[in-house]
This record gives sequence, structure tokens and C-alpha cells, in this order.
Amino acid sequence: MVAKNMDDLVSLCKRRGIIFPSSDIYGGVKGLYDYGPMGVELKNNLKQSWWRSMVYERDDIEGIDATILTAPDVLKYSGHEDTFSDPLVDCRSCKSRWRADQLINGKCPNCSSTDLTDPRPFNLMFKTSIGPVDDGSSFAYLRPETAQQIFINFKNIINSTNKSLPFGIAQIGKAFRNEITPRNFIFRVREFEQMELEFFVEPGKDEEWHKYWVEKRINWWVEQGIKKENLKLLDVEKDDLSHYSKSTFDIMYKFPHGEEELEGIANRTDFDLGSHSKNQDELKITSSVKRNSKSVAKLAIQNLDTKEWVVPFVIEPSAGVDRGVLAILNEAYKDEDLGKGNKRIVLKLKPHLCPVKSAVIPLKKNNSKMVSMATKIKNQLQKLGLGRIMLENSGNIGKSYRRHDEIGTPLCVTIDFESLENDTVTIRDRDTMEQKRISTSELQSYLLTYFV
Ligand code: GAP
Repeated sequence: MVAKNMDDLVSLCKRRGIIFPSSDIYGGVKGLYDYGPMGVELKNNLKQSWWRSMVYERDDIEGIDATILTAPDVLKYSGHEDTFSDPLVDCRSCKSRWRADQLINGKCPNCSSTDLTDPRPFNLMFKTSIGPVDDGSSFAYLRPETAQQIFINFKNIINSTNKSLPFGIAQIGKAFRNEITPRNFIFRVREFEQMELEFFVEPGKDEEWHKYWVEKRINWWVEQGIKKENLKLLDVEKDDLSHYSKSTFDIMYKFPHGEEELEGIANRTDFDLGSHSKNQDELKITSSVKRNSKSVAKLAIQNLDTKEWVVPFVIEPSAGVDRGVLAILNEAYKDEDLGKGNKRIVLKLKPHLCPVKSAVIPLKKNNSKMVSMATKIKNQLQKLGLGRIMLENSGNIGKSYRRHDEIGTPLCVTIDFESLENDTVTIRDRDTMEQKRISTSELQSYLLTYFV
């Protein structure tokens, strides 16, 4: 069973320090959320899992971490200044604003009026100024996708790593979009994170690589704990494609509010490298959009046999971190009836994603021997490098187990009176709730076997 509705998830996230509305004490800001102590661990674990699969487990992908502030020319020649917009309508009756493509029966969702303006394009990019003088002459954009910094660093990467086709550049980082109607918790927000790969291939081999990445990415989501039956592949209609895409497959997930995009995998052709290159006419770019770029770089790679310069095609798997967190929380959420009126909420997260890998719990809060044994064990386990190990000294074992079930801690290690006598601890398994006693000397290898 997944969460019954979004409210269950929102309430768990607030209660257990996973996600909070941003600027909450001042009334909050629509479309902005903060990650709390457990949320930051879960999010970091998800990002690490993506980075491992993209960069560490392959030899054909390099990572970068580029700036968020982006020179206007980058987003001019990429086409975002002209085309990165949503259709906006105003309701003349109640003065609210909506995305035209999200209206039902042409009515204002707030007051049901049909007295709406004609749709007009609203550019989603945030602007800010660079330097001490804010006179509009030195502005920058907050990047709307991490991808553009990958394209403009193409030459830096091939020159510094000697990569040849096919190869990829990966990046995880913030992106910003001034969404007209942010909604559904962290599903559609104005500040979010993306995990993006730009995979450069020989023109003509793009379609086979596109298929390869679609399959790879679905399997990766399944490894993060998402049931395959809750994922669907959507071949995006030609009319709905982004300005750079020849073909896009969206991985759709059954979110609590409905089936929507979790990740998009686009064939961006030679559009972006071509758009950011000088002397575009020499490069035989397939894209018909030529903006006579001011760039000083030729973003192409030389075929060493024919000496011809080739602008690679790009396959781009682009996943939202926040949508990933939401999908994973939804899948892991279980509301279990334990019988005799007892219930529990438990997050059955995959071990590598759990915010806390193990809680070490002294049975009695004020028993100094128990607390000192628990502290020593916590410090030893922390050194294994598995992630966060938490000393949980609340003095109420029942409440501690409930809290750790709700944040998905897979193993709770308890120090009791017997522990002080014979150097043993109990280990409680989150999913089965079974407890077993083992010697402290076996504890490290027990955890290593469980997590690695
Ligand atoms: N570079 C390609 C690109 O940005 P996109 O489909 O616009 O493509 C990729 O975005 C992913 O980023 C989406 O699949 C989604 O997971 C995430 N995303 C996009 N807009 C978002 C928003 N407003 N809030 C949260 N995540 C968003």
C-alpha cells in the first residue's frame, strides 16, 4: 500500500522533520519548501545513488558542478528567452492568474468565472542583477535547467579529460522556474533540484542510445524502491515537445494527486551544442533554428580518421530530485494495523536511502552505564561510513521505535540491563519488528552485511 493521499505525506513530513513549508513563521511562500534533518539525509542519499550509478559505476561519464547564475546570452542562444514560457490567463472577476492549459471547461478555478483574458506567454525564468549597480544593464538569470551549463562546458570537459564519443556529463543542482501555479506539495515548485545527464553520441546513433537510456532509467527508479507497475512510459506528442527536442519519453509515476512526469528523457539532437557554437553554417547543424551565436567556441568534436568536425547529438535523462523524493516517500509509506487496536506508520525505504541507518537506544535515559555503552557503540558504528547513526536517548523505548519506524530507520540497536552484564545488544528489524540478541563484537559486521 502507498500513502492514501497527499495530506498523509505532508503531515508525516512536518511531524518527523522531513520537509517544511519555507519561511513558515512569516506565513510561507507558495512553491517553496525546506528539507529538515531527515529530509536532507533522504535527499542526499537519493542524489548519491544517482551519482554512483551515473559517474562511479561507469567510465564514460564525468561530473560537474556549475553556477546557478547564468549569463543572459546563454539563455538567449539556447532559445529559453524566446520559448521558455507557459500560457497565462487572468481572471477579470477575482484577479487570480492561471495556466491556460490547466483550466477545466474554460473556468477560473477560484471563482468559476468564464471572464478570462486571452492566454499570453509568461516567461518562467527568474532574473537578478549582478554587481552593485542595479540599473538593468548587468542582469543574470537563475538557471531554469542545469543542462545549459553542461553544454557550455563541453569544450572544457573534452580538453581536460580526453573523452571521445559516446560520453556523458552529469550534474546535480538547483533549478528555478517562476511557475504560475505551483502545487501538489513538492511536485511543482519554484526552486527545485535536477539530476541531469547530457550523453553525447554520434549523429545517427541517437535513437538507439535513446532507447538504452529509457530502459536504464526505469530500472534505476525500480532499484530506488518504486514498483514497476506504478511507472508508465509516455511518448510525448510532437506538439507538446520542448523547443529543443526531436523526441521525448516521460517516465510517469502515480503520485497521490495523479499520474504525472517524474523524469523526462529527451533526444536534444545537435540543437544545444549547435546553438552555442560560432560559425554555425560551417558545422552542418541539423537544427533549423540558427541564432548567429556570439559564442567564441566551436562545440564540436573532430573525427580523427576523416578530420571532419562533428556536432554530437545529445540524449538527456533529466530527473527531478524533489519529485523523486515525493515518489519514494509515497511508495515507502505503510499504514499497518498490528491488531488489538494497535497501528503504526512505517516508511519501508530501501536501506541505501534511509535517513538514519541505525538508532542506538539506551533503555533507561538516566542509567549512565547504559548511556555510555550506547554512546561508545554509536561512535564505533558511525566510523563504518554507512551514513547517519543516531544516539536516541528519549528514555521511552516504545516512542523511540515509533519515531524510527516513521522515518524508516531499518535497524534499532537497544542497550538494556543484560547488555551491561554480557556485552550483548538487541537488534530490532523495522519491517518484521523481530528482535534478536547479538554480541557487540558481531555488531559491525552485522551492519556491514546488511547495508553493503
Ligand atoms: N533539461 C530538461 C528539463 O529541464 P523538464 O522536463 O522541464 O526538462 C526535467 O524538467 C525534470 O525536472 C522533470 O521531469 C521534473 O522531475 C523536474 N521538474 C521540472 N519542473 C519542476 C518543478 N516546477 N518542480 C519540481 N520539479 C520539476
